[in-house]
Amino acid sequence: MLGLGRIGSVHARNAAAVADEVLVYDAAPGRAEGFVREGVYEGVREGGLRPGGRTAGRPCDSVESLLEAADALVIATPTPSHAELTLAAVRAGVPVLCEKPLTMELDRLLALIDELEPYDVPVMVGFQRRYDPAYTELRRRVAGGDTGRVHVVRSASHDRLPPDPSFVPTSGGVWRDLLIHDFDALAWIVGERVTDVYAAGSVLVDEVYAACGDADTATATLRFEGGALGVVTGTRRNGQGYDCRLEVFGADATLATGVDGRTPVVSVEPGAPGPDGTHDGFMGRFAAAYQSEMEHFAGLIRGEADNLTPPVAGLHALEIALACERSMAQGGPVSVPLRGDEHR
Ligand SMILES: NC(=O)c1ccc[n+]([C@@H]2O[C@H](COP(=O)([O-])OP(=O)(O)OC[C@H]3O[C@@H](n4cnc5c(N)ncnc54)[C@H](O)[C@@H]3O)[C@@H](O)[C@H]2O)c1
Repeated sequence: MLGLGRIGSVHARNAAAVADEVLVYDAAPGRAEGFVREGVYEGVREGGLRPGGRTAGRPCDSVESLLEAADALVIATPTPSHAELTLAAVRAGVPVLCEKPLTMELDRLLALIDELEPYDVPVMVGFQRRYDPAYTELRRRVAGGDTGRVHVVRSASHDRLPPDPSFVPTSGGVWRDLLIHDFDALAWIVGERVTDVYAAGSVLVDEVYAACGDADTATATLRFEGGALGVVTGTRRNGQGYDCRLEVFGADATLATGVDGRTPVVSVEPGAPGPDGTHDGFMGRFAAAYQSEMEHFAGLIRGEADNLTPPVAGLHALEIALACERSMAQGGPVSVPLRGDEHR
């Protein structure tokens, strides 16, 4: 386990369910030791197996020492480090689950896919929505024809609270960091690629986004190959609660993820019930998805599961995100160059 920040802590806990020992390293001094000491791996004798249990936690003092000892690697460090860490692990024959995105640049991703290919070592990318029970079911039903022809899709990723401002400069921005999940899930569920986008962004939450040339509030209109249209919205602050949904409006039915008693919407229709609590953030909303993702990773290493999110899986989402960035900067619709065709 490399990186024990917001998402790394989640993965490090979930890893305990599938591993005999979880080796942890974080570049921040003392963080790995503190994480193990916190009791995450309750009852663990350092370096040994938990008496009566499966898992132990062990802090490591460098990436190199961790890689030497590990059978599999989970990377949850900031995005700019993902590509090199993934390559280092694969060269050492160690399977990788790397947080999304693998890299923020399209040229680098295309080159990386080629560099990784000859090693034949599994690399899974953390698009956790593909492991979420509701998103998986929505894809199955749309593919099975339950909605009829898809006319419109809507996808929202609205964080309740913004991340720490220090996260913003290296995050990749609202399109490549936040809404890349929506682009991946939409194309995966609709089963078509996006050909054109028209994107807009505003800074309404924190000036740090303006200083980074980023937006904290964003919308995009998408056109799919078959003519279906999509609307994507993202915000870094949504006071009512964490709102993450994907809605498919088809000729015969409308199906959605994220619409239940916890959807953070207050209806003003007479007598309509309000939400029964809401999710605080992605960790709670996608808890089952992260667990399933980790179980899937273990299955993949054992040769018992298919890779639902290989490096190429992030390619189209990145193409859409980059097109949205251009559209926002230029102020008009742009086409999505499908440069990675030979890799799909
Ligand atoms: N799939 C998801 O739902 C999801 C959610 C949040 C973040 N992410 C992704 O996960 C990554 C991490 O995001 P975060 O919000 O957890 O960030 P974070 O800043 O909270 O945590 C990053 C951690 O990595 C450590 N670190 C930095 N460089 C390191 C290195 N070379 N080796 C070991 N540790 C190192 C830092 O000290 C920090 O503890 C990002 O790429 C982000 O896009 C994905």
